[in-house]
Amino acid sequence: MTNTKPLNIAVLVSGSGSNLQAIIDAAKVGKLSVNIVGVISNNADAYAIERARFANIPVAILSHNPNGTRMKMATFEHHAYNQFKKWGADLVVLAGFMRIVTADFIQKSPPMINLHPSLLPYYKGLNTHERVLKSGDKQHGCSIHKVTPQLDGGQILTQAVLNVKANDNAESLKQRVHRLEHKLLPLTLDWITKGLLSADNQTLPYILQFKENDQTF
Ligand code: GRF
Repeated sequence: MTNTKPLNIAVLVSGSGSNLQAIIDAAKVGKLSVNIVGVISNNADAYAIERARFANIPVAILSHNPNGTRMKMATFEHHAYNQFKKWGADLVVLAGFMRIVTADFIQKSPPMINLHPSLLPYYKGLNTHERVLKSGDKQHGCSIHKVTPQLDGGQILTQAVLNVKANDNAESLKQRVHRLEHKLLPLTLDWITKGLLSADNQTLPYILQFKENDQTF
């Protein structure tokens, strides 16, 4: 039995927003039953803002206070939480959101998932592509996990895997991982809307993995 009720999602961004675009595009062509009820950026210059506006999605820019000072995380979270309530968000998606959120914010917000450019639990944090190359790993990829107070440490929902090539550098890996992310994020959201995955607190018994050249992916 599947649940195809559109899911109201709020997306948090800091940069280009190519993953936001992947969700917008999948929803537009009917591949994904989500309503993007709003986008929140902590960076006033993020290109993701243009993408959201172009798709007629409400945007909240939470980067600076009215007096021009940079917004503290507590203020950001206060406003972001009010936006979730106002927009009726069922799920919060961190898609290239580059700030660390607090335990209190996570606890009171709707279920929250994050996209991370590594095969968690390996390479939490930043500079994942450089670290994979330095270690000589044969595989790399991206993960979507539940957000908990442990940085990049929540239950893994899905992963996409690629084989590192001899001539890969950090930039080529970044691009290859990005292409995987653009498939993995809409697919994961689709499974959540259909009840195949859960973003709430229940423990999941498995990790789903897809390879770069998998035709079904
Ligand atoms: C992605 O690689 C994501 O894994 C990381 O930040 C990047 C965001 O890319 N956390 P974009 O803004 O969606 O283009």
